[in-house]
Amino acid sequence: MSALPPTVPIRVPDGARDAAAAALKAVADLGSAVPDTDVRRYLSHGARQLRAHLPGELLQALAAWQHSGIPWLTLSNLPRSVHCVPTPRAGFCDEYTEERLKVPNLVQFGLLRLLGLDPVAYAWENEGRLIRNVAPSAGAARTRTSWGHACQLAWHTDDSVLEHGACAAPSAAIPHFLSFYGIRNAEGVPTELLPVDTVLAELPERVAGELRRPQFAVKAPESYAPARGAHNLHLAHTSSYGTHIGTHTGAPLGPYDPPGTATGGHIPHSARSAPYAANVPYAANAPYPGGEPPVRTDVPLLWTLRDGGSALRYGPGRVTGQTAWARAALRWFEDCLAGLEGVSVLVGAGAFHLFDNRRVLHRRASFEPAPPGEARWLRRCYATRSRLRLAAPPL
Ligand SMILES: [Fe+2]
Repeated sequence: MSALPPTVPIRVPDGARDAAAAALKAVADLGSAVPDTDVRRYLSHGARQLRAHLPGELLQALAAWQHSGIPWLTLSNLPRSVHCVPTPRAGFCDEYTEERLKVPNLVQFGLLRLLGLDPVAYAWENEGRLIRNVAPSAGAARTRTSWGHACQLAWHTDDSVLEHGACAAPSAAIPHFLSFYGIRNAEGVPTELLPVDTVLAELPERVAGELRRPQFAVKAPESYAPARGAHNLHLAHTSSYGTHIGTHTGAPLGPYDPPGTATGGHIPHSARSAPYAANVPYAANAPYPGGEPPVRTDVPLLWTLRDGGSALRYGPGRVTGQTAWARAALRWFEDCLAGLEGVSVLVGAGAFHLFDNRRVLHRRASFEPAPPGEARWLRRCYATRSRLRLAAPPL
């Protein structure tokens, strides 16, 4: 196996953390804005305060990472919410009344800005919202989604059904990065990472060559469902964790947790109905024709990025070969993948983690969640390379 890049987190000193936390808490210009209604405020205010209070060498490390070729990054000991916020039991939080998420949001979006990345959301994923609460939802326990916990998530990349070409619009392109901010992870469940280059080192040339040919079909992941308001396709499952949104047709929306609580709250309808296109830099809010999750055919699984690196799209059970050669190569690839180990990263409370979704596969073991309200909770946001950066690459 090829050598893996370092995974040691960059730790923020306590003094800088406390100074940044105080400054972020004091940000007063957000008004009633939440990330989905005005993400630019979170990007700019977060970046400004972090730039003012994090050590210079840490800021230099963030700048250097952008051109390092290292496909992941972890920071620890970042500012946290002053007050405890219970883990959502139903997938979503009431971001409108949950003031206590201000600091985590400013940290996450501020770091994205400092790293030259733009947040991105998709109409068919997470109701078009920027922040996905990676947290157990009992109604989704056995799903292979970020709301599940009872089944392993095997090696995969996210949103493989989207476009892979260099000219794809951000709103339609496979996300370049997954970013996470850890609220809590008392169960100690790691995210495991496996570079595509490590997989390629184990594959015969002719197999990789077949994976590069446009002879594969890709289905949408299990988590895809249309944005609310586009179609009435949601089914509520009530459980000990509250309400989980599924993807069946015609059933009414079930109850959220009581309004004003961190575990749910009634989200205004106006905020649910594909509301984000105007405020999110790249939100794909147009429903797909026919109301069915997208399927893509005649695409490669492997391709070459602008910087010469190899990129991959893959999800177990979501990819099929359209030719005999493609099916044989896919079997070889999957057998190879089954025997590979990656590296583990623990995204704990107050940590930020980022990895390149096209150059790294990820997986997560099954786990037993802590009691409702205390279970593992990561805040995930997709991100793409800033268009400015793409237009003006560094010398
Ligand atoms: Fe994933």
